[in-house]
Formats: sequence, C-alpha cells, structure tokens
Amino acid sequence: MHPVDGDAAAECVLLVGLSRPKMAAALLSVMMMSLFLTFHVLYDSAVYSLESAAVAGGSGNANMVVLTSRMDISGGPGGVIFSNRVHFPRTSRRLPQAIIIGVRKCGTRALLEMLALHPRVQKAAGEVHFFDRDDNYQRGLEWYRRKMPHSFRGQITIEKSPSYFVTPEVPERIRAMNASVKLLLIVREPVTRAISDYTQLRSHAATASSSTTSSSSQQNAQRSFEQLALRTDGSVNLAYRPLAISLYHTFLLRWLEVFQRPQILIVNGDLLIEDPVPQLHRIENFLGLEPRIGRHNFYFNHTKGFFCLRNETADKCLRESKGRRHPRVDPMVVTKLRRFFGEHNQRFYDLVGEDMGWPEE
Ligand code: A3P
Repeated sequence: MHPVDGDAAAECVLLVGLSRPKMAAALLSVMMMSLFLTFHVLYDSAVYSLESAAVAGGSGNANMVVLTSRMDISGGPGGVIFSNRVHFPRTSRRLPQAIIIGVRKCGTRALLEMLALHPRVQKAAGEVHFFDRDDNYQRGLEWYRRKMPHSFRGQITIEKSPSYFVTPEVPERIRAMNASVKLLLIVREPVTRAISDYTQLRSHAATASSSTTSSSSQQNAQRSFEQLALRTDGSVNLAYRPLAISLYHTFLLRWLEVFQRPQILIVNGDLLIEDPVPQLHRIENFLGLEPRIGRHNFYFNHTKGFFCLRNETADKCLRESKGRRHPRVDPMVVTKLRRFFGEHNQRFYDLVGEDMGWPEE
C-alpha cells in the first residue's frame, strides 16, 4: 500500500464529498428502474392472462366446454423469449379468413368445433349472420369484426352461418370484404338432410309457444314428412323449404359466379360423421394449416351414436340438438325423393367436379 499523498487525499476527499448526492441519485435511479421492471413484468403477465381468458371466452359456445387456449412459447409463432422474460404478442379481433357458408343440417356445427381443435384456429362463438341479415350488414364491417374471437397473429379466424349459402346477396357481400377468403361448404345426402331439417323444424315448433310461431309452421309441425314432401297428386313438393334447400346446385351456381372454384372446399358431411380425421386433414391442407388434428382428438360415444371431441383438458360431445333421432320415413317416399334428386345431384357433381356417390334409390 502506498501512503496517500496530500493532493491525492484532498482529491479523494473532494471526490467522495462531491459524489455523495450523485451516488444517492444513482441508487435512486437503480431502485426506480427495478420498480419499473417489476411493474412492467407484472403488467405484461396480467395483460396476457386477460387476453388468454378473452381468447378462451370468445371462442366458447353453448355446444362445447371451453377448451384451454394453447400457445407455443418456444419462440415459435406463439411467443418470443427475450433475455429474462417471455413476451407474448397481443391478440386482436380479426375478420374471418375462412367461413363455413352452409349447408344447414349438414354438420356445420360439428365441422366448426372440430376445426377449432387446431391450435391455429379461433372460431366465432355463435352464428353471426352478418352477410345474410340486412340489419346486421348495415352495421358495417367493424361491427362484424367485433363479433369475432380474439386471435394471435398466425391464427385463422372462422365463423359459420349456414344461411349464407341460400341467401342471394351473400356471395357478393363476402367478396367485397375479402375476395380471397376461403369458403367451406359441407353437404350431406340431400334426402337425409331434408329429413334432418324437418326433424329440427318440428322440434322447434314443439318447444316454441304459439305466439312465437306462425300458424302455417304450427300446421306443418303436425304433418308428417311424407305429407309435406309430396303433394296430394304424388309429385315432389319443392315449395317445401327443406326439400328446396337440398337442391344444392341451384344455390352453388351463384357462388361460382362470384368466387373461383378452388376457393370453395366441398366437405362430405356423411364422411365427417363416419370418420372425421381424413376429412379434417383435407381441410387443414385447404386452409394452409399443418396437420394437427388426429385420432387422439376423437372417441366414439355409443350412447350418442356420434364421435365426440377431446383435447388435452376436456372431452365433449355436441349438444342434444345435434344428432337427433329422425322419425321413420316411408321407404317408398325416400326412394321416390332419391330418384327425383338423382338428376339434381348430377348437376351438383358437375359443378364441383366430384361425384359424391349419393344413392339414387
Ligand atoms: P341430425 O341432428 O339430424 O342428426 P348442423 O350443425 O349443420 O345443424 O348439422 C347438424 C347435424 O350434424 C346433425 O344432424 C348430425 O347428423 C351432424 N353431425 C355431424 N357430426 C356430428 C357429431 N360429431 N355429433 C353430432 N352431430 C353431428
């Protein structure tokens, strides 16, 4: 150790004397910085929790329990790891990049729920009916966007409103929103679809009070499917809406005037019931999603008679109104209707470029 000479000691005393307030200020800054960082981390995690809850809440619906929101926090699309904390990108409500446009009673709800098993899919909770109801459409795209669930960047938002398919104004309106939107059309064998539609209408009429249903639908609810589907002279009654909706080609024509054929994926609803996974792989491919939905996501429920859904945290079947027992329909009437639909089905196959193999007897 060297003795401190006079000048150096004076300098040291001077330095220490002068730096005390600076030291205090530096200490204060360090404390403020630590406080700021602590609050920032707390704030970030609080915001993330709220957003995750919003994502889960926004995508929940009456059919399914809320399935937990899944995230990749490995630095992939879900999150980015910085030096000492995980930073999650913000979620926002986005307009849908894909829409299930119909057909009603062909498995539109099952399709949406099954697709939502994919970690990159967020679904709108209910049927939004933006493009088919004038009062909603007039509220504007911002109203529609606010009906969408929260999603992370890289996720696909999907909604389903089956009446889009049969409403004339809808194709143009959807194109005006996004000309490259992807459309999913799920179809079933047309006579089965009509019987399913009849079963639903009858069930609704039975539960609705007389003040909320028109007298014609009350009368229809009391009539059998056979009485409604055939006129008294035995000809097919196309004025009966459940039959008219099954004439798929008449509605599809309008969509093909507005959208390119490759923009519309036709999903076979009968195959989706039998074995969902191969159908879902086709759809994942169409939507540009990596295949993530697999056999582990389904189990067959013998009581319900349908596949139910499963993820890491929950098992769930669709609600009772999906998979109703159909009334017995006279096989002669079924045969007659299938013969009638044969020619119309062929026109549909020609439009989509695929033979669905629906029975003609
Ligand atoms: P039914 O109730 O007549 O059997 P949508 O959701 O478009 O209204 O379609 C309802 C139909 O989805 C049901 O008609 C049912 O056949 C079909 N569906 C397809 N997969 C299903 C599933 N896993 N669980 C219940 N219903 C399913």
